[in-house]
Amino acid sequence: MSELHHVRTAVVGCGYWGANLLRSFAALSDLRVACDLSAAVREKVRRQYGGVRITGSYQSVLEDPEVQGVVLATPAPLHAGMAVQALEAGKHVFVEKPLALSVADAERVTRAAEEAGRILMVGHLLEYHPAVEHIKNMIEQGELGQVYYAYSQRLNLGKLRSDENALWSLAPHDISMLLYLLDEEPEEVSASGQGFLQADIEDVVFITLRFPSGRVAHVHVSWLDPHKERRLTVVGSKKMVVFNDMDPREKVRVFDKGLDRRASGADPAAPPEPVLFAPRDGDIVSPRIGGQEPLAIECTEFLRSIATGSPPRSDARDGLRVVRVLERAQAALVAGRLAYEVTPA
Ligand SMILES: NC(=O)c1ccc[n+]([C@@H]2O[C@H](COP(=O)([O-])OP(=O)(O)OC[C@H]3O[C@@H](n4cnc5c(N)ncnc54)[C@H](O)[C@@H]3O)[C@@H](O)[C@H]2O)c1
Repeated sequence: MSELHHVRTAVVGCGYWGANLLRSFAALSDLRVACDLSAAVREKVRRQYGGVRITGSYQSVLEDPEVQGVVLATPAPLHAGMAVQALEAGKHVFVEKPLALSVADAERVTRAAEEAGRILMVGHLLEYHPAVEHIKNMIEQGELGQVYYAYSQRLNLGKLRSDENALWSLAPHDISMLLYLLDEEPEEVSASGQGFLQADIEDVVFITLRFPSGRVAHVHVSWLDPHKERRLTVVGSKKMVVFNDMDPREKVRVFDKGLDRRASGADPAAPPEPVLFAPRDGDIVSPRIGGQEPLAIECTEFLRSIATGSPPRSDARDGLRVVRVLERAQAALVAGRLAYEVTPA
């Protein structure tokens, strides 16, 4: 048993996603408390986790001197407030994405973590995905050449939410992954979308990011789509790479494709020729990607940060920069809403 198994944790919010975090923290740490407002959820948890204290009172989690790390998987509008409370109570905090629903709130949580001297980690799961790690290494080693642009799609039918739109629910994954891979913040954020099923809650959102380096990225998220798609494409000058999270075997495919500039004519005195490009259509390779579950890697990062005091990859600064992009995209959506109105059928 590693020292991380002795870190004492509490999971707060044990619904759809919290159930996964419970399973993971029960396996990897000393899970002491599970907390949920719903009696039905508490009953379900009680049947699965015998030795764990089950409560409906968040206050009792904060007052429990045994608990070192609080894991928040409550609805997004509660993240900032509950995270600040836990930090002020001296707990280390893992909070599900997004860190907050505004930059002001994200800054408030970040300040609370600094003042308390505690770890604050945001659940940007894809930053811990072995496939994303592989692509990050390829970029850093120059295997893709110059990265030109990237785009990602996160589409499905459901799970429809009414306390946040598809932007805040789905895009934190794509934006955190893109900022991690490209290692810069966008200077321009534009977005458009539409709420067809519930007024002013966008079901489909298209976001475009322009970076200071000149690179561009596009994110398409929707819970109203015939395809189940979780895909990222990165186009570089030497190679192109696709991460398809729906493919159980070939998550990453590397395409030796591109358009290579043709050598110009040998005679320097000749008039300039138009620039010509020759297509390169080489091998398609699927590298072996480590099989460890991203969720287990992510939870281990939180426990390691608590044990060592070193910040996690998806720390407060990372959570904040993602919220900065989301807030700008949301402003663009709201501005777009004024232009037309759809009456849901
Ligand atoms: N990382 C991922 O891939 C991923 C996937 C899905 C959801 N999430 C995130 O997880 C969070 C929860 O989403 P979900 O789909 O599990 O929602 P959910 O509605 O299924 O679960 C939320 C739970 O929180 C409980 N709750 C609400 N207020 C509470 C409070 N004050 N104290 C204790 N419990 C409270 C509710 O009773 C419910 O059981 C969201 O932030 C969402 O963005 C992350």
